[in-house]
Amino acid sequence: MTKQETRRPLQLAVIGVGARSEIASHAVASGAGEIVAVADPSTAALERAKEMFGAGIRTFAGHRDLLAGDVPLDAAFVTSPDHTHAEIAIDLLHAGIAVYLEKPLAISLVDADAILAAAAESGSKLYVGHNMRHMAVVRLMREIIKRGDIGEVKAVWCRHFVGNGGDYYFKDWHAERAKSNGLLLQKGAHDIDIIHWLAGGYSTLVTGMGDLTVYGDIDDRRDNSDRTMPDWFSFANWPPLSQTELNPVIDVEDLSMVSMRLDNGVLASYQQCHFTPDYWRNYTVIGTEGRLENFGDTDGGIVRVWNRRTGYDADGDVEYRVRGDAGGHGDADQLTVGEFVDFVRDGAHTETSAVAARNAVATAVAATESLRDGSRPRRVSAVDERVAARL
Ligand SMILES: NC(=O)c1ccc[n+]([C@@H]2O[C@H](COP(=O)([O-])OP(=O)(O)OC[C@H]3O[C@@H](n4cnc5c(N)ncnc54)[C@H](O)[C@@H]3O)[C@@H](O)[C@H]2O)c1
Repeated sequence: MTKQETRRPLQLAVIGVGARSEIASHAVASGAGEIVAVADPSTAALERAKEMFGAGIRTFAGHRDLLAGDVPLDAAFVTSPDHTHAEIAIDLLHAGIAVYLEKPLAISLVDADAILAAAAESGSKLYVGHNMRHMAVVRLMREIIKRGDIGEVKAVWCRHFVGNGGDYYFKDWHAERAKSNGLLLQKGAHDIDIIHWLAGGYSTLVTGMGDLTVYGDIDDRRDNSDRTMPDWFSFANWPPLSQTELNPVIDVEDLSMVSMRLDNGVLASYQQCHFTPDYWRNYTVIGTEGRLENFGDTDGGIVRVWNRRTGYDADGDVEYRVRGDAGGHGDADQLTVGEFVDFVRDGAHTETSAVAARNAVATAVAATESLRDGSRPRRVSAVDERVAARL
């Protein structure tokens, strides 16, 4: 029997039982924890929670009721909409509960900094679910860079084809600035974090550009708060202008771009489009001795490296196969939750970083301000080093 199996299971709660809450199941499946309570204002969600986590769980209409309910808890998964993250995380951290907080950390820089401050003051553990740091394609690209195969990184470019954009982001709260701020933050926080990680620095100056170019033209709207995304998701929803039942309010962009200058001199760019037919991310990293690029970002994908002078050469000089994440980021989710469990139990090192999560928010918020203000450049404010040092 392993050390872990002999241990008492962590007592866990889930706050927000929507599409993403299934991530908590990884902690149960590994034997590391038990879901003993959930909180969600939706009665349908609470019923769903009993099916997912067992009829014996305690259910609450909100996290404050849960905290008042005297449920002994070690940790909680916060998988509620982005605009609720700050209030929930801050309350849980001050109550001494370790928090797995879904990305993005928050929808404003003020909230992001308040969450970090709450973690620092309370001493409770804060883990932000940047699962992309555990994606096989990202790990592979990082290994190639760390080995020095392309020299010193000078540029990182990411093109993000969000093929499921209409179904994922324009039929519920994601489409509202008040709840997500914008998709350059809500979706882009993942890639901005990875760009920072691959480049080994953080953005200091950004310029954004973007617009609502397609989904704003669709008049067929519906309040979908009685259902969750799997209820309406379909590959048949194509082409994008044939989409129906979009969220009543759509005031976020469906096409956006940001240019970033990092504190170590690296220049980076990120482009995001929510109406492509295909759904994947394409990274190019250029160093002083070569460049890499991925084709496909799940199991079976390829990362190619060019490190000799040539004309057009589709094959590159070296080719690596992506192993893991068949069909999505399921393997990464499992690794991420495993890392969270070890962090809670043993204070183990984590590949994700709450400070990096905050810097992804800071960059995306500044870029979103820029794109809504004639693309005027914005400085990205740095984290309070005294707070960062205490995390
Ligand atoms: N890391 C990833 O790959 C990934 C993938 C998907 C979603 N997410 C993140 O997970 C979070 C949830 O996304 P989702 O797609 O599951 O959303 P969802 O809309 O499907 O579910 C959200 C749930 O939270 C509930 N809720 C609303 N306000 C609440 C509150 N104040 N307290 C408790 N519950 C509340 C809703 O009733 C709903 O059941 C978001 O922050 C999103 O960005 C991350």
